[in-house]
Amino acid sequence: MVCVLGAMDQEIAAFAAAVDVRKKEIWNGFPFIHGALFGHEVVVAQSGVGKTLSAMVTQRIIDTYAPTRILVTGIAGALNRAYKVGDTIVADSCVQHDMDATAVGFARGEVPYTKLRFIECDRRMVEAAVTYVPASGSVHRGRIVTGDVFVRNRSEPSLAYLTEQLSGDAVEMEGASIGLVAAMNRIEFLLIRTISDLADGSAPPDFPAFLRCASQNSLQCVRHVLDDVAVE
Ligand code: ADE
Repeated sequence: MVCVLGAMDQEIAAFAAAVDVRKKEIWNGFPFIHGALFGHEVVVAQSGVGKTLSAMVTQRIIDTYAPTRILVTGIAGALNRAYKVGDTIVADSCVQHDMDATAVGFARGEVPYTKLRFIECDRRMVEAAVTYVPASGSVHRGRIVTGDVFVRNRSEPSLAYLTEQLSGDAVEMEGASIGLVAAMNRIEFLLIRTISDLADGSAPPDFPAFLRCASQNSLQCVRHVLDDVAVE
């Protein structure tokens, strides 16, 4: 059983439409859709926006469905200046950028009293995902930084640490919190995002249409990964 998570309903819309539904439940307002996706048993779920809700939903899904893999999809803002809107980033690692206990001796992003700072994505799924050929744009392998902030200006000096200390290539609001829950539960984890903006306050002109394309892109990338790792 594989769990596919997206923060907003528009991010999982293409998945919801593609699942051969066996059971649907709404938990605390968040839909969990259990069924078959291209022949793979899945639960597709909406996590809500931000670290707290996404962590809460992820643990609930683990306790209810016992997935062996968790795949996170959706959109992200680019920090890496080579990335363009519409590109795909496959995270090889991610970090909670607003976890900051540096005042008491921990590295920025390190979760105190765990060994967790840069949370690694499952190697096999990463290798599969980077061979995905999208309908448009490029595929990058990089680091995603996660925090409870929508970044409107990546050039703001106070945000320099996102790239300078944390080597972030893209920013979003759920990946590393879900990754942390996956790591604590020893579940394989993958994080793939479509770049929606350059973290500069801009957005694609027709944002609803862009979100539909991004969700389709995520669906095709997830299909590629699941078909690859299912052959074991
Ligand atoms: N998700 C998409 N774009 C983002 C941004 N600029 N900051 C945080 N999360 C995002």
